[in-house]
Amino acid sequence: MRINDPKLLAGLAELGIQVRPSTNLSELTSLGIGGTTDSLRITKHESIPLLLNLLDATHIPHRFLGGGSNLLVDDGELPWVVLQLAPPEPDIVLEGTLARVDAAADLGRTVTFCAKHDLGGMEGLIGVPGTVGGALRMNAGAYGMQIGTYVREVKLYRAATRRVETLRGRQISFEYRHTSFAAGDMMLAVILELPSKPYNEILKGIRICNEKRRSSQPLGQKSAGCIFKNPPGASAGRMIDELGLKGLSVGDARVSDRHANFFVNAGCACAKDMLALIAAVRQRVQKAYGVALENEVVVWNA
Ligand code: EPU
Repeated sequence: MRINDPKLLAGLAELGIQVRPSTNLSELTSLGIGGTTDSLRITKHESIPLLLNLLDATHIPHRFLGGGSNLLVDDGELPWVVLQLAPPEPDIVLEGTLARVDAAADLGRTVTFCAKHDLGGMEGLIGVPGTVGGALRMNAGAYGMQIGTYVREVKLYRAATRRVETLRGRQISFEYRHTSFAAGDMMLAVILELPSKPYNEILKGIRICNEKRRSSQPLGQKSAGCIFKNPPGASAGRMIDELGLKGLSVGDARVSDRHANFFVNAGCACAKDMLALIAAVRQRVQKAYGVALENEVVVWNA
């Protein structure tokens, strides 16, 4: 979608919003898939309610984009603009055992920055790609830990009230790959309360998790992490593997040979290929195990 209205462009400029015309979303997603649309960079959180009023008044639909690491975006010219936060400088500020982190901060860098200041707990998240905002929204987790455990406070734009608000950790429910945030909410910043631990000890944990990830996941290939959530008490990856589906392909979309719940873009896959592969695998698992796998990857259909 293109923003051409000169009045709207002037309004956006007044709010300090930078418009990037015809952004190729395949360059902003870890799968390397996605069509084109105008993208808007937000530098001041407080401008968001006004920005959304402007977009609503001119009938421009929008989507919030984080790090694009758990996202499958449709092909072609997209019918909504995307909004992205520009991280402030600095994007992580420590105060005792509290870390104030901007939603646009890189998750891995946040884990290592806190570790260097003897704040641990998040070792398992090392290697999870994406932003802190994206991790929060879906309660990212790995190796027995999840980010929600450490959330003391979240600053967000709330769709229900159309305002920037702060929620206490206990007002938010964090479950397996699920939170109580609503669809139109945008994460802006978080205060994490982290356990104090000596750097060397945290580093040991980080190395163990890195090694486990390297040996079991297709790092370095274009993917969105795990495609399906694990059904209660089972592993989607193991089920897909047991069915012999590693290597199954639709065009350049392919079930990873290393971890069957990772689907990789092995060249020039498009969304249509990836969606067809997801549907085919889901159908085979349903038939063999009677289990309907639920997407973990977020799909933005045009
Ligand atoms: N397995 C297979 N074949 C495969 C993949 C896995 O047999 O192709 C077996 C493994 O050998 C193991 C079991 O299945 O016995 C579980 O595998 P793994 O330890 O890799 O964990 P997972 O359940 O597949 C989950 C998360 C990952 C996270 C890891 C480590 C989900 C959907 N996935 O994977 O998160 O990194 O545990 O904690 O919850 C993600 O969310 O995108 C993600 C990658």
